[in-house]
Amino acid sequence: MSADDHPDSTAFQARRLEIRDRLDRLPGATAGTVAERSAWFEDVYKGAGGDAAAIPWADLKPKDILVTWLKKNPGNGARALDIACGLGDNAAALAAGGYRVTAFDISTSAIDWAASRFPDAGIEFCTGDLLAPPPDWIEGFDLVHECYTLQSFTGEMRAAGFAAVVRLVKPGGRLVVIARSRDEHQPVDGPPWPLQPSEFAQFEALGLKKLGARIYVVERPGRIIPHRFMVFRKPG
Ligand SMILES: C[S@@+](CC[C@H](N)C(=O)[O-])C[C@H]1O[C@@H](n2cnc3c(N)ncnc32)[C@H](O)[C@@H]1O
Repeated sequence: MSADDHPDSTAFQARRLEIRDRLDRLPGATAGTVAERSAWFEDVYKGAGGDAAAIPWADLKPKDILVTWLKKNPGNGARALDIACGLGDNAAALAAGGYRVTAFDISTSAIDWAASRFPDAGIEFCTGDLLAPPPDWIEGFDLVHECYTLQSFTGEMRAAGFAAVVRLVKPGGRLVVIARSRDEHQPVDGPPWPLQPSEFAQFEALGLKKLGARIYVVERPGRIIPHRFMVFRKPG
């Protein structure tokens, strides 16, 4: 990686800022049907031409809070699913933590890119739709990891998204959620659309038991972004 390709570099951040306007003008950027929104994600990854600065959410490293959690919760060969894996950094952290990982995304370009970044991690990367997963994924995973996908959904996708996540967890298995958060009904100019307390509560309404929650902030230049990290178990 050259210095200009490092996410902390000024050049990388300048490219990201410049590209953001173009992405916001693409069809499906802020709303639309499942098909339109999915097409937008594919446009973003394909149009990036291999430059991660053009992927607004790509950190090129796993989330610190997940890495910390994995140190105390190793997989020992258990099966994990990384939902909407993007460029694959969180999936690679799960694999390094001892899980047998399947990682999927709606965007084929994202999956090809992720697989090329982590060819030797033993991860099964595949294209897939959270809202229409293969039948054998239902209740198929000891650990399901959801990071930043639900907050990128609006409308009918958002309405269906929570149950779609929960049904992938095996009885007795766990769900880890990482998301931006906001106060109930706090206006927001998405995407992303951070999750509200009533939405985090949906995981329990759908039958999961809360094991833990951490409220924290991510600091970006000129911004402090509230987040939640939550862990649930499906009874069984
Ligand atoms: C904000 S990004 C987060 C990516 C990654 N989880 C991360 O934390 O960096 C949202 C991701 O959801 C994917 N996505 C959108 N709709 C999806 C769907 N229906 N099924 C699977 N992935 C989807 C997008 O392609 C994109 O990679």
